[in-house]
Amino acid sequence: MYAIIGGTGVYELNTSLENIEVNTEYGSVEVDFLEIESGEKIYFLSRHGKKHSKPPHLVNYRANIMALNILGVKYIYSTAAVGSMNEKYEPGDLVIIDDFIDFTKSRIMTFYEGKSGVKHVDMSEPYCSNLISIFLKKSMNSNVEIKGSAIYVTTEGPRFETKAEINMYKNFGDVVGMTSVPEVVLAKELGMCYATIGIITNWCTGFKNEIKFHDIENSMNMNKEKLTQLFLEIFKNDNIDQESCHCNNAVMNL
Ligand code: HPA
Repeated sequence: MYAIIGGTGVYELNTSLENIEVNTEYGSVEVDFLEIESGEKIYFLSRHGKKHSKPPHLVNYRANIMALNILGVKYIYSTAAVGSMNEKYEPGDLVIIDDFIDFTKSRIMTFYEGKSGVKHVDMSEPYCSNLISIFLKKSMNSNVEIKGSAIYVTTEGPRFETKAEINMYKNFGDVVGMTSVPEVVLAKELGMCYATIGIITNWCTGFKNEIKFHDIENSMNMNKEKLTQLFLEIFKNDNIDQESCHCNNAVMNL
């Protein structure tokens, strides 16, 4: 089974979708889905809730990822709105996220709280290399242009960063967002393949003029539709497996 996690704005797909509520030990989660010819299902999860009601620091990441796991999902493509601190990537551009740095402060990061021993998850390849390479290949023959790869600096939010913070963060990464951690970590803990396409919505604070809030909506609208179409095409037509990545055996027992 497959899933698409939409960031800001990627949840108004106009196909007729069915809806299911999944109860997890962390809370209940509403997901939409459609069934493809193989009989498998593609689930759509809106990270912030259907009405974009949950700010990034209050998203129930564990419930979201556990709900997809309960539904049998192994492969997840997600999108995320990000600000750019790299001259090469402008508002409106798309980037593949290939690593992260975590500056969050108050989030629960793990499913493993000691009940089944001490476990650590390998983060040498947080985003699935296989999902990334399939996506890049597929995007070459499509109307989706990927500008390059990017390191994602995750901040706590919901406030935007100060100029001084961005001055520091730009030494560490290319884009800033508020949601990739812990989402990518939790997916890996459950052995799922997970990849993220960053949608650059604005220049980061102080980087070039001020943050223009209307840009965020415009960039998302421009890109969300075609990204979702490409994800669907991949899930419908490509044979995806876990043979060539390490996502399914990244948890280490110590
Ligand atoms: N900072 C943090 N998160 C974001 C930004 C930003 O500039 N743009 C979109 N999400």
